[in-house]
Amino acid sequence: MIYSKITGTGSYLPSKALTNFDLEKFVDTTNDWIVSRSGIHERHIAADDEMTSDLALHASRRAIEAAGINAEDIDLIIVATTSPDKIFPSTACILQGKLGIVNGGAAFDMQAVCGGFVYALNTADLYIRGGQAKTVLVVGAEIMTRMLDWTDRATCVLFGDGAGAVILQASETPGILAAKLHSDGRHQALLMVDGFVSKGVIQGDPYIRMEGAAVFKFAVTMLARVVDEVLADAGLTGADIDWMVPHQANIRIIEATAKKSGLGMEHVVVTVENHGNTSSASIPLALDAAVRDGRIQSGHKVMLEAIGGGFTWGALLLEW
Ligand code: UT7
Repeated sequence: MIYSKITGTGSYLPSKALTNFDLEKFVDTTNDWIVSRSGIHERHIAADDEMTSDLALHASRRAIEAAGINAEDIDLIIVATTSPDKIFPSTACILQGKLGIVNGGAAFDMQAVCGGFVYALNTADLYIRGGQAKTVLVVGAEIMTRMLDWTDRATCVLFGDGAGAVILQASETPGILAAKLHSDGRHQALLMVDGFVSKGVIQGDPYIRMEGAAVFKFAVTMLARVVDEVLADAGLTGADIDWMVPHQANIRIIEATAKKSGLGMEHVVVTVENHGNTSSASIPLALDAAVRDGRIQSGHKVMLEAIGGGFTWGALLLEW
């Protein structure tokens, strides 16, 4: 039986950090409000000449090094992003070029907003188990701050830029055990960037808009439900989870979901304070932190879960 297993992780945050105290100087907000409502202390902002593929490149090189492979071994690249470098080609193709990979392996982007990394990892797992790929680079990379309206305090304090990457490889021992994805397009107006490009200009609103309280309620209900679905598929219970690595949007959503899943916060990886909501990058950023500091160990059961605009949501369970 073929499984797929993560053999290396990497992440990258742009060097410029913007703290809540920095924000207080130009947004009608306070450090106390941001920390108490979201758990965020700072976020990172890409330099003007940095593109999403550049962030992805740094994270990918670290994951490749950690896995001990050559870039040329990668036969599929999936980049989860909602802030691509260009309309086309895909950020995955641009990344393939920057990595110098010339083996003709496939590369494509996955657009599921904050759910993107779970969508991409699930897709990569299916490619490997279907025998169409052996070594997949799965990336979540975003420059969310270029889509922020800095006069909209309900959104601009929440998002940040960053990238995370994993190498997923075919394995004879268990890795990804179960996964479930969902979407529901009826709720798109609760969280969206409405604008689009037509006839050479952006039509409509180019900024992130969100009905925060409605998103919050939907998120907690659906995330707890999909975690239960995945555990049931794997024949396990919440007590079997060693680490939950949730999408890092908001500490209150993370805490509420963990509680509903019967999980103490000592089993949850939290990095939202350092980077805010980096959309599809947040799970691999948190995963890399917990792998590098030794919390996640061989044999551990790790649950990933995320929800984003669309809505899209999903969870994925793996054995490390
Ligand atoms: O990947 C999924 C992405 N989305 C999320 O994870 C977000 C989910 N939602 C949330 O995390 C929360 O709803 C927020 C953090 C966005 C907001 O927290 P809340 O407790 O739901 O606050 P609220 O939107 O109900 O606003 C409460 C008050 C309002 O003032 P009034 O009307 O009560 O006087 C807002 O105007 O807080 C005010 N407010 C702010 N005050 C200071 C909104 N944003 C700010 C701000 N600073 N940045």
